[in-house]
Amino acid sequence: MPARRVSVDPQGPVLIEGPVEIALGDGTIARSDRFVVAVCTCRRSRTYPWCDTTHRPRERTAPPPEDRNP
Ligand code: FES
Repeated sequence: MPARRVSVDPQGPVLIEGPVEIALGDGTIARSDRFVVAVCTCRRSRTYPWCDTTHRPRERTAPPPEDRNP
């Protein structure tokens, strides 16, 4: 059986070649059949244990409302 590759992003998730089963603290098992699975390490994901990109810093795309009307 080939070795399973795991990549660690120091600012984000751990990427694991799937399928993956994760045993959670409450005894349940989370499973993903994706080719590569992003496992959250920041614990802020709304879909924990899967990364939902919440770890990424947010950038503003529009100026704050007070700057729009001179
Ligand atoms: S690592 Fe991406 S949401 Fe936690």
